[in-house]
Amino acid sequence: MAPRQETSLENQIMCGIVGLVSAGNDNILPLLVKCLKRLEYRGYDSAGFAFIDSDSGRIIVVKDRGKIDEVVARYGIVERYAARVGIAHTRWATHGPPSKVNAHPHVDCGGTIAIVHNGIINNYLELRRKLAEKGHKFRSDTDTEVIAHLLEDLLDENSDMLGAIRKAMNILRGSYAVVVLSTRDPSRLYFMKRVSPLIVGVAPSVSIVASDIPSIIEITRRVLVLHDGEYGFIEPGRVYVEHDGRPIDASQRFRTITWSVSDIEKAGYPHYMLKEIMEQPRALYETYLGVLSDPALHKAVDLIDEARTVFVTGAGTSFHAGLAFQYYMYRYAGRPVLTFIASEFYVYSNAAGQDDVLIAISQSGETIDTLTALRSFKQRGARVIAVSNVVESAIPRESDVKLYTRAGPEIGVAATKTYLTQVLVLQALVSQMTGDGFIKLLGDAHRVTARSLAKFQVFIDRLARKLYRKEHIYVLGRGLGAFMAYEGALKIKEVSYIHAEAYPAGESKHGPIALVEPGFPVIFIGTPPSELVEKIAANIEEMSARGAVTILIGTQQYRDVDADYKIILDVDDDILAPYAIMPLLQLLAYRLAVLRGYDPDKPRNLAKTVTVE
Ligand code: M6R
Repeated sequence: MAPRQETSLENQIMCGIVGLVSAGNDNILPLLVKCLKRLEYRGYDSAGFAFIDSDSGRIIVVKDRGKIDEVVARYGIVERYAARVGIAHTRWATHGPPSKVNAHPHVDCGGTIAIVHNGIINNYLELRRKLAEKGHKFRSDTDTEVIAHLLEDLLDENSDMLGAIRKAMNILRGSYAVVVLSTRDPSRLYFMKRVSPLIVGVAPSVSIVASDIPSIIEITRRVLVLHDGEYGFIEPGRVYVEHDGRPIDASQRFRTITWSVSDIEKAGYPHYMLKEIMEQPRALYETYLGVLSDPALHKAVDLIDEARTVFVTGAGTSFHAGLAFQYYMYRYAGRPVLTFIASEFYVYSNAAGQDDVLIAISQSGETIDTLTALRSFKQRGARVIAVSNVVESAIPRESDVKLYTRAGPEIGVAATKTYLTQVLVLQALVSQMTGDGFIKLLGDAHRVTARSLAKFQVFIDRLARKLYRKEHIYVLGRGLGAFMAYEGALKIKEVSYIHAEAYPAGESKHGPIALVEPGFPVIFIGTPPSELVEKIAANIEEMSARGAVTILIGTQQYRDVDADYKIILDVDDDILAPYAIMPLLQLLAYRLAVLRGYDPDKPRNLAKTVTVE
């Protein structure tokens, strides 16, 4: 690991990058904007474009703070310019304010090389000092700018651009997906990839390199996922890839994406989050069909059967799906498992060995915390089972067994349909472990979700109107209910910015109840088994006695329990309970965000895929 002072605080970024090169004379800038917008979920505090101006043959850079649409409109990018080759970037800064000067693309001294970058260059301070001593002039504080000057420097040593990139790959330390535009080769875009994701799409008249599939799908469904250490270039109709100086035949690695453009559009919904909540029945059914026929499920069971300890990891929502798995494994398969937050892996990985299994859960398959945990366990010989929504993303690629959710693309920053589909895949795994199990029951999951949404949507709208001015909400449950409460509270806080806190209901009297005063909202999640009903009822009474507004969302067992607001679902088993309960909590979070005037698709300070530690 590089020393702390080597990384730029200002530039610990995760971003979306894209480059397009076209064979025709058409202006690619409108397409470039569109492709970049498909990556906006990765970050949206500044945006920038660099392209070779068709009139002058020179590189023009337009960049500024703000969302993509704002920057495009502010500079009239589509109306004022025309180009056949260009690169673009949407940025998310985790430290320091976003600014025009730090926005990408960055250029070299001569203005003949422009680059966009996703990741962190760990040794940028040392490189910057050396390049400055040689006379290079830096304009920004970013780590990224050193890449442009480094390539300029290496080109001066009689290399062509491919040679310069080859050398740069051995000099740059850190994580990077980089796209390079150069006036020397106006019909090519160069790229290099280490750790950060980068994929290529090739069509006869236009080729594209980008951070993720939603961007590529505008051009082609045939996608090449680049591997670590690979670099090369795209031209219209062609990609060239090298690794360590050796050409790579990547033609066999192209695969066809089944997602369609309409999958990644809003389909009439005002926000992706709402669309994704509403399309859960379909996502669940497709995931159910997929997992039923997936031989990987049996391989995963074999690994778990032989394992000494089963560790489970993930971040955010994926961690919460892991907690649900922990519940089902113990209850139905009698196997205790250890679930931990991915960024805390070092607490557990030292004890892991070749007899152990790690289940790594990640919607994107790119979350760096989960990837780092996975690598640490693998180094100690553990076997890894991945659960992901993105085929061949880094986490499944590095795992022994890959299980996929079939939720389709999730664009809203808040994970919704991917949570329930993860739970379904993990339940299927437990079911398989118990022989006959409950796999058939999972075939009802989509119906349960559809019913719950149809029946209680209006109720949730009304509830949101009661709650949206509150600044705090508790979300409580016991057993499986507590694990769902964590996920519900995460949804509420990340999109509505209401401070929502979840904990097991029994913990109230050990501290949290001190905050409760008249009007304080407390949501209770009531789940089986029946033994919990009286306990939850008592917790509701304790809260009511302090003037709290109590809300109960519970399974059939809770029909006689009193609360100020109450939803009783028509399920009574813990396998199907999440499919009835979670969509309502997601919908509540969504409505709260909208009523408070926030954009739930782009919560502040967050990005969909977190590729920095
Ligand atoms: O792609 P991943 O599942 O690995 O992402 C993990 C978290 O970053 C993610 O679940 C995050 O917490 C979401 N914003 C939750 O809605």
